[in-house]
Amino acid sequence: MSQQDRSAGWAAYYTQLRDRPPRKTALAALDRFGTPPDGALAIDLGCGDGRDVVEIVRRGWSVVAVDSEPTALQQLAARDMPGAERITPVLSRLEDVPLPLGVLWVNSSFAMPLCEPAKFHALWLRIAEELPAGGRFSGQWYGPRDSWVGREGMTFLSRKEAEHLLEGFEIEMFEEEEADRVTPRGNPKHWHIFHILARKR
Ligand SMILES: C[S@@+](CC[C@H](N)C(=O)[O-])C[C@H]1O[C@@H](n2cnc3c(N)ncnc32)[C@H](O)[C@@H]1O
Repeated sequence: MSQQDRSAGWAAYYTQLRDRPPRKTALAALDRFGTPPDGALAIDLGCGDGRDVVEIVRRGWSVVAVDSEPTALQQLAARDMPGAERITPVLSRLEDVPLPLGVLWVNSSFAMPLCEPAKFHALWLRIAEELPAGGRFSGQWYGPRDSWVGREGMTFLSRKEAEHLLEGFEIEMFEEEEADRVTPRGNPKHWHIFHILARKR
């Protein structure tokens, strides 16, 4: 797929899912944190047009919003929302971006699997090392029965591998979902998803 086709695909995705609520993993993280401490900082890796970011800033957080698609960040900037001044947009591949100093929460909804295994694992090592005790990770990873298995540049983990990576964290949500649905782009797909919320010990 050309970069142009990929970008057009993501633009259609943002339009189609425009008014969907934040992901349950992001909401669960917000609820677990409760009132954020002064200056609380999150990073949203693969933020899209801001489905989670809107709620993160509404609840008082500052957030670094990372996406590799310019359209995502343009659509995020076009949203009319209170707290927008607490968003720092970063156009970057999520596996390349340094975690900001003082980050307390890494959120990555349906995006981390969209990088190749070596980079996925290097990123996860950084997240696991750099989050402070009490910091959280929320997001989705994909399992081995997902019908996208074998696609170049993507990462899939067995349940055991996922649990192994999460050692050192207290698991607050680990929901395994398998379902046959149609993707937002209209293609039938078997989803195998791990919905994760974990708190660093
Ligand atoms: C499935 S969408 C999810 C968007 C949003 N997090 C949500 O839950 O609706 C994946 C997003 O990740 C972005 N993305 C995909 N691969 C990426 C990468 N390697 N680095 C940064 N962003 C990436 C895409 O541009 C897209 O906006």
